[in-house]
Formats: sequence, C-alpha cells, structure tokens
Amino acid sequence: MKEIHEFVIRERHQHGASYFSLLLAHGGTMQTVLPGQFVEVQVPGIRDVMLRRPISVHDVDSEGGTLSLLIQIVGHGTRRLSELQIGDRLNLVYPLGHGFSTDLPSGSRALLVGGGAGIAPLLHLSKVLRARGVDSTILLGGRTADLIPVREAFLPYGNLLLATDDGSLGHKGLVISHPDFAKQYDMIYTCGPTPMMKAVARSAAERGIRCEVSLENMMACGVGACLCCVTDTDQGHRCVCKDGPVFDISSMKKWYQC
Ligand SMILES: Cc1cc2nc3c(=O)[nH]c(=O)nc-3n(C[C@H](O)[C@H](O)[C@H](O)COP(=O)(O)OP(=O)(O)OC[C@H]3O[C@@H](n4cnc5c(N)ncnc54)[C@H](O)[C@@H]3O)c2cc1C
Ligand code: FES
Repeated sequence: MKEIHEFVIRERHQHGASYFSLLLAHGGTMQTVLPGQFVEVQVPGIRDVMLRRPISVHDVDSEGGTLSLLIQIVGHGTRRLSELQIGDRLNLVYPLGHGFSTDLPSGSRALLVGGGAGIAPLLHLSKVLRARGVDSTILLGGRTADLIPVREAFLPYGNLLLATDDGSLGHKGLVISHPDFAKQYDMIYTCGPTPMMKAVARSAAERGIRCEVSLENMMACGVGACLCCVTDTDQGHRCVCKDGPVFDISSMKKWYQC
C-alpha cells in the first residue's frame, strides 16, 4: 500500500562532488519496499520545484525502520535535497512501481549491471539475491572512478567488477566490453543510462538470457495519472511509474531495438 510519510534524515554522506546519500528514519512501522521500487520525494523550500522527484530505494533496513537514497546532483531539486541536514524532515510517497523479480532458485547466476545513478537500486537488489542464495556478479560503470559512488557497499553481496571510460578504475571501457559481461548468466538486471541498458538488453536477447531493465523516464505524478512517463512496449504504451519502472525485456523489443 502506498503511503505519504515524513521521514527524518538520520545520516547524510557525500560521495565525491556529485553524489550524496541520505539515511531516512520512518519513526513507525515502515511499508515493505521491494528492490527496484522507488519513492517520490517532495523537495522542500523552493517554489520553482513543485513536482516531486522520483528516486530509487537504495537500501532498506525493515527492522530498523530506515531506508536510504543515493542521489546525483543534476538540477535544482537534487541540489536542494543535497543541502538538507541531519534532523530535517523529508516527505515521501512510497513504495512506488514494480520492482525486480527476485524469485531465482538458490545457486542461480545473476549479473547486475549499473551505470551512473542507476547503481542506486542495485544495492537492495544484491542483498535480497544474496539472502536467496543467488550467485551475483555486480558490474558497475562510470566515466571516471569518482562517478562510481558507494562501490564498497556491494562487496559483501557478490563478485564486484568495475569499468571506467578513462581506465581510472577497473576495466577500461564500457561495461558491455568487460570480459565477464560475455559470460553465461541465468538472469541479467540493469539500471543506468538508456544507451547502456539498450545495449545490455540486446546482448541478453541475443544470448537468450532473461533480463530486466529499470527505466528512468521523466515523471510527474508517479502513480499513473498524468501519462508523462509513458514508454513504447510490445504491448503498447505503458506508464513507467505504474507498470514499471522495471520491465522484462521480453516485452520491450520495440524499446531496445531502436
Ligand atoms: C524511477 C526513477 C528512479 C530514479 N532513481 C534515481 C536515484 O536513485 N538517484 C538519482 O540520483 N536519480 C534518480 N532518478 C533520476 C532523478 O529523478 C532525476 O535526476 C531528478 O528528478 C532530477 O531532478 P532535478 O530537479 O535535480 O533536475 P531538473 O532541474 O528537473 O533537471 C536537471 C537535468 O536533469 C535531467 N533529468 C531530470 N529528470 C531526469 C530523469 N528522470 N532522468 C534523467 N534525467 C533527468 C533534466 O533533463 C535536466 O537536464 C530516478 C528517476 C526515475 C524515473
Ligand atoms: S508520472 Fe504520471 S503517469 Fe507516470
């Protein structure tokens, strides 16, 4: 069930110049949040940012009643969020959208491919897969080392591989040119820039590997009412906020082939 709730910022961490993370305490009984689901954040204190901003849930501690967000500063809204301090309140609508499928048998091999802010939902996903006994390879990419934040957080949950365009960390080149990308997996999950996700989806389709992509289309209402987030799928137009953001590529040929 969706809830509108004021969380309290318990921790704030800066990760290089452009990323920061917030640990948010619910203060009561938090709803279950599945990997790949997102929140709509109300940006406090500035008049020219009226619409809530969609942000993936980065991590969840259900028992402790906290969730965390990893945010890249790209514009007015995210800059304002970066100025918030410990103790400030943040109004969220959550949990939104459909998350990743995590019903893989124990011992399955999964590849998680993240780029840029698309790394965010993969931490919660990698934890849930680990708890299910899935053997995960986590491949994170960025233009430079600075642009792959919080990478150490993934270490306990799988085999962590990195790729940078300039070779400052890990493999030099795109994530899809990493030698381990070409290995056989039972499932591939991806979130990041659209060209990266399309390339991952095309490769998975060619190799007959099940694959889910998490789209980050621009959003307004976040609940399927305004239609501003639609994407073309093989079954017609679908709202990314309500029908996604996670889609199985078996219904997305139109999207990844163009
Ligand atoms: C389901 C979903 C989950 C997301 N999860 C995260 C996350 O975990 N961490 C994170 O940092 N970001 C995430 N995003 C992207 C985030 O919502 C945008 O970066 C944010 O809304 C920008 O707000 P702003 O006011 O700072 O930027 P604006 O001032 O509104 O825009 C600044 C620039 O950012 C671009 N932009 C705005 N929204 C998006 C978008 N949705 N995708 C790509 N570019 C955009 C604009 O075109 C513009 O060039 C997610 C988006 C979606 C749809
Ligand atoms: S954001 Fe309004 S329908 Fe998706």
